[in-house]
Amino acid sequence: MKKRNNNKTFSEQLLYWYDNNRRNLPWRAMVGEKPNPYFVYLSEIMLQQTVVKTVIPYFLKFVKKWPSIKKLANADFQEISQQWSGLGYYRRAKNLHETAKQILKYHNGIIPNNKQILLSFPGIGEYTSSAIIAIAFGGRANVVDGNIERIFSRLFKIETPLKDSKHQIFDYSEKYLPLERYGDYAQALMDLGSLICIPKNPRCSKCPIIDFCEVGGDLSAKEYPKKGVKIKKPERFGLFYCLLNKNGDVLVTTNKDKGLLANMDVIPSVGWYEAENRFVEKPKFIDVKDSLFNFEWQIIDSEIVHTFTHFKLNVSIATSSIKKDLFLENSSFAKNYKFVKAKKLKDLALPSIMKKIIKQLEHDNIIKC
Ligand code: ADE
Repeated sequence: MKKRNNNKTFSEQLLYWYDNNRRNLPWRAMVGEKPNPYFVYLSEIMLQQTVVKTVIPYFLKFVKKWPSIKKLANADFQEISQQWSGLGYYRRAKNLHETAKQILKYHNGIIPNNKQILLSFPGIGEYTSSAIIAIAFGGRANVVDGNIERIFSRLFKIETPLKDSKHQIFDYSEKYLPLERYGDYAQALMDLGSLICIPKNPRCSKCPIIDFCEVGGDLSAKEYPKKGVKIKKPERFGLFYCLLNKNGDVLVTTNKDKGLLANMDVIPSVGWYEAENRFVEKPKFIDVKDSLFNFEWQIIDSEIVHTFTHFKLNVSIATSSIKKDLFLENSSFAKNYKFVKAKKLKDLALPSIMKKIIKQLEHDNIIKC
């Protein structure tokens, strides 16, 4: 980091900018007010893998429905899961509820101002615990997210690719922490990363800390942080079954508590392995469960590709209708599967991939929502 001529420190300069340019976000305390630790906790969980713009309406919906950690803890998980629908990374919803319950039971409904205790809750790691300590309680904590890593890699012109320089950046960031206003400082860096020190075309001419920056104003600024070799996500292929009964209701199941899309409502699917191509005919059935789907299936054209963290899923869709409603009554399936009216699908806890599939089925006039 460069030295400046006048005697304002890096953090003073940054905080001065923040006081005049901060974003107005619904979980943030107004100037002079105390932050609401529940708002900070909830927003940090939502913001873990989702951008601010997407989170805002979800956050507002949640705090309206469950205005306190106690209300959230006492909520029905089915409803939380349904309200979370579309935000992705569904394990977060389960952890959110579990943590709220623990906080109510063991901490009197008060979010603990203690990093070790916060770390013991499901879904709270190094970053989130630090963010809560700094933002909710004003404690000294080194909050480093992707935006802040980008800022520091530019400030120090770090040539090592980001994936190998995270420790170095964390240490620099620790070294430059201010002596007070830890929460504002963390949020100032977040705002700088989202308004000025942006990934593609950094707005260096507007940057309040350009004098401290090794690459600021330089065309090369956008090349930091340095990228390592990018590994392409593997592609997988899955076949989703849209089974309709004679009323046009859709067969749906709720996923188990574990794994991808845990607790979410889905239509049955098979495959999800790396294969050569999309399914153009039904795959060979592997177990008894699948053989129950031995109806006359028609595979429809689908261009749907859904990106998960570790792979891309190419989606094929098969449709079929059954005349008799006896199907579920007679099978051991009945407790896990149900027919849902197409118009009611939107009330379920649907992951984004299901929303895409439903849109396609509607577009092809297979269901009417
Ligand atoms: N990203 C993660 N936490 C955030 C916060 N509190 N404000 C803005 N962006 C964030």
